[in-house]
Amino acid sequence: MSKDPLLQPYQLKHLTLKNRIMITSHEPAYPEDGMPKDRYRAYHEVRAKAGVALTMTAGSAAVSRNSPPVFNNILAYKDEVVPWIKRLTDACHEHDCAVMIQLTHLGRRTHWNKGDWLPAVSSSHEREAAHRAFPKQVEEWDIARIIADYADAAERMKAGGMDGIELQAYGHLMDQFWSPVTNTLDGPYGGSLENRMRFSLQVIEAVRQRVGDDFILGIRFTADEDLDGGITEDEGLEIARRLKATGQVDFLNVIRGHIDTDPGLTDVIPVQGMRNAPHLDFAGRIKKEVGMPTFHAAKIPDVATARHAIAEGLLDMVGMTRAHMADPMVVRKIAEKREGDIRPCVGATYCLDRIYQAGDALCIHNPATGRELTMPHEIPVADTKKKVVVVGAGPAGMEAARVAGERGHDVIVFEAAPHAGGQVRLTAQSERRREMISIIDWRMDQCLAKDVKFRFNTFAEAEDIAGENPDVVIVATGGLPHTEVLSEGNDLVVSAWDIIAGDVKPGKRVLVYDDAGDHPALQAAEMIAKSGAHVEIMTPDRSFAPDVMAMNLVPYMRSLQDKDVRFTVTYRLKAAKRSGNLITAVVGTDYSSHTEEREFDQIVVNHGTIPMDELYFELKPMSKNLGAVQQEALIFGRPQPLEANPDGTFALFRIGDAVAARNTHAAIYDALRLVKDI
Ligand SMILES: Cc1cc2nc3c(=O)[nH]c(=O)nc-3n(C[C@H](O)[C@H](O)[C@H](O)COP(=O)(O)O)c2cc1C
Ligand code: SF4
Repeated sequence: MSKDPLLQPYQLKHLTLKNRIMITSHEPAYPEDGMPKDRYRAYHEVRAKAGVALTMTAGSAAVSRNSPPVFNNILAYKDEVVPWIKRLTDACHEHDCAVMIQLTHLGRRTHWNKGDWLPAVSSSHEREAAHRAFPKQVEEWDIARIIADYADAAERMKAGGMDGIELQAYGHLMDQFWSPVTNTLDGPYGGSLENRMRFSLQVIEAVRQRVGDDFILGIRFTADEDLDGGITEDEGLEIARRLKATGQVDFLNVIRGHIDTDPGLTDVIPVQGMRNAPHLDFAGRIKKEVGMPTFHAAKIPDVATARHAIAEGLLDMVGMTRAHMADPMVVRKIAEKREGDIRPCVGATYCLDRIYQAGDALCIHNPATGRELTMPHEIPVADTKKKVVVVGAGPAGMEAARVAGERGHDVIVFEAAPHAGGQVRLTAQSERRREMISIIDWRMDQCLAKDVKFRFNTFAEAEDIAGENPDVVIVATGGLPHTEVLSEGNDLVVSAWDIIAGDVKPGKRVLVYDDAGDHPALQAAEMIAKSGAHVEIMTPDRSFAPDVMAMNLVPYMRSLQDKDVRFTVTYRLKAAKRSGNLITAVVGTDYSSHTEEREFDQIVVNHGTIPMDELYFELKPMSKNLGAVQQEALIFGRPQPLEANPDGTFALFRIGDAVAARNTHAAIYDALRLVKDI
């Protein structure tokens, strides 16, 4: 029996949890028609199989029709959910993993233009900044129905084989009632804390009556809103004591903060560059003061901190949620003493930002997450060993090399630079985004363990590649900044990468022109603004930096807004002209023929990259497939056909930005889905 504190069982009432690691509830927006179907089940099943003790499924599963599914939540108010839940719970129980589900009414944290177009309801008329619906203030008949809805939904979850449920009370209807900021009700549900808690205590009572004692009922709640006029730590403690006093609540899952704005949410769920485990000691205090089984998650990405949380008695169960999105095998690797093999969560929060902007959660560097039905988390060894040459050691090339190494192939990587990393290495130049380099470092370690050979400082020519007698060549040479976007004066501008790499010093009065809308423009702007310069960030789009997304924008704004920075949307840089020591920017717009001129001493352009593809085109005639990728084979996981050129001597593929400017996830996904079948 292991002595590792993390691997000790935990007795939660009648339920034995086999270790101390849990996945806290998180809605990855995978439901189909509001139901947790095969994709959903497969996502949890693989993590259950790998040893996590408890998976809290869903996130904000809706108990009522007037809690519209704003991020494709599970519709727990429908009877048809029960068989889908049953399949999910059966699959997880098969691996001795406890399964629960988070139920909620979102209150105002949604929008009426989703689901059945019912008005959002809350304990006031005030809208939430993040979701923007102006809610209806609840009436007594809303309250009665919603209480009954909770009990009905809980009963469905029990019928579906769940071990328990967690009620959500941070930013949702329950704590909208609790918080003086969001409760303007008179009468029995407004005013005193007793009144503000009345609704949630009535829900708890109704649920407990319905599900009986042999079913776990917990609550995930904010014990300190950290908000002017909101729930204070003292009041949070009092709430916890009152929850305990009901005798009907089995665990507390502690949150600190408020989530009504993007910055608030980002402090509750910190992104990369923010402190690890910022609320762990706070959760420990609540556990000590209240004396109830206590769970908590908030950027505890590494095993050492998780172990500390349990060993010091701060928590009973430690949540490692994004850590499990990045690597489902966390617990198995701990048990096998292979902690160094855990694919690290780098805090990019691409996962969470995507549920709003792109419709499903995907991990920036684990493309198998959320694609368990088609992509492997563990790569099987190939039947036939091949010689694989990879050109380029950016994220695409490193993933190709890793997967080819796992397949058991003989792999060699050529890289012109002295280090691996490509654009990720540049990204990691910013202190705040330093964690990104783990995407490369983890792959390097995995490659070296599989004897992948690296030739750095080597600008491979076609003959060098052919001289290796490869079976397969993968060109992952990436791209170079594309700044030739002006009708005149392209030679007067520099790229965002020039600034980030430190190759060009920031000017004093700088235009950052961003029509790619991704990180490099803001990253360059941040470096320039920090030097004391005046910066104007201009985009032809309706909003700036759309691909940076909500939570990732927060640290940029915190860094930029207190400096001399202006944001200009809907204007397009047309041309640049030298005027003495300055550069005149000719600025137009897509909306009319209006133009104007402004002077800067530096213009920085972010317009994606242009593929570095010379080598690929040189190799093409020598290849068996003439570089072609059959898309059906790629998508449905079959080996690529290679008969296009009978004189060819190797298979040739091009991946990542060497094809077209995309992002890190796209580059890594390109590599995984191609190389897993080689
Ligand atoms: C994609 C995604 C969706 C989430 N949705 C919910 C949710 O619906 N309800 C909830 O209580 N927490 C939700 N969370 C927050 C997580 O439960 C967890 O608190 C957070 O990710 C911090 O823990 P971690 O650093 O271990 O990931 C979500 C997180 C992610 C990544
Ligand atoms: S996208 Fe980033 S934060 Fe989310 S799981 Fe992957 S590495 Fe972690």
